[in-house]
Amino acid sequence: MVFENIKNSIDFFIRNKTKFSRKNFVEKDEKILFRNYLENLYTYDILEQCLDKHQSDSAKILDIGSKNWFYAKGEYSFFKSFVQTPCLDGVEIDAFRLYSNLYSRYESAKFYTKNLKNTNYIAGDLLSISDTYDYIIWFLPFVTIEPLKYWGLPEKYFMPEKLLYHAFSLLKNGGQMLIVNQGEKEASAQKLLFEKLNIKYTEKGIVKSDFLEYKNDRYAFVTDR
Ligand SMILES: C[S@@+](CC[C@H](N)C(=O)[O-])C[C@H]1O[C@@H](n2cnc3c(N)ncnc32)[C@H](O)[C@@H]1O
Repeated sequence: MVFENIKNSIDFFIRNKTKFSRKNFVEKDEKILFRNYLENLYTYDILEQCLDKHQSDSAKILDIGSKNWFYAKGEYSFFKSFVQTPCLDGVEIDAFRLYSNLYSRYESAKFYTKNLKNTNYIAGDLLSISDTYDYIIWFLPFVTIEPLKYWGLPEKYFMPEKLLYHAFSLLKNGGQMLIVNQGEKEASAQKLLFEKLNIKYTEKGIVKSDFLEYKNDRYAFVTDR
C-alpha cells in the first residue's frame, strides 16, 4: 500500500537523521541470553556445514544485513577456528531502528560484538561497501518485497538483483559466499536471482542444527569465486 510505504520512508528518514538511542545496552535477561547462546551455536554449526575452511593468518569476512548482530560471536568463533586473525565487518542499512526498550540495533550490536577483536559494525548500505572479502555471509536477504515492507524499510531499497550482483563483486578470487533463505518461496526466488545474474551456486538444501530449530525451513546456497 502507498501509505505503508510513505510511513516506512518517513520513519526510516527520521531514525537515520536523529540516530536516537539509549546508550550502553547490556542484556541481563537470562532467558534471552540462553536463547542467544543457542543462536550463536546454531550459526557456528551452519557455517561449519556449508563453508570450506582455508587455514590462514588472516581473512576478511563480511556479514550482510546484520540487524543487531546477535549472532556475531558464532561467526567469529567459526572463523577463529582456522584463521589466526579474522576481521569481521557487519553492514546494516537500518542500524538505528529502535527496540521497545529504546536501544537501537546499533547500540545492541555493541553489546553482541564486545570483546570480538577486529569486528566492525557498519551502519550503512551494502552498496556503499567497496572492500573485498574472503568470505561473505548473508542470512535472510530480502528476495521478495513483503518481508522488506514488514521490516519497515522503504520500497526503494528492494533491489535484490543489484544487491546480489554487488555482494558477488566484493568476493575475492577463491572466496566463498553463503546465503541462507527462509522458506521454499524465498529459496526459489534466490535461485532465480543467481540464474538471472549467471552466478554459479551450490545448493546445500535445507540446513538444520541440533542446537536450534526455526519455524520455517532454511535453505543454504554457496557461491565460489
Ligand atoms: C530479514 S533481516 C535478517 C537479519 C539477520 N541477518 C538475521 O539473520 O536475523 C534482513 C536485514 O537486512 C538489512 N538490509 C536490507 N537491505 C540492506 C542493504 N542494502 N544494506 C545493508 N543491510 C540491508 C535489513 O535492514 C535487515 O536488518
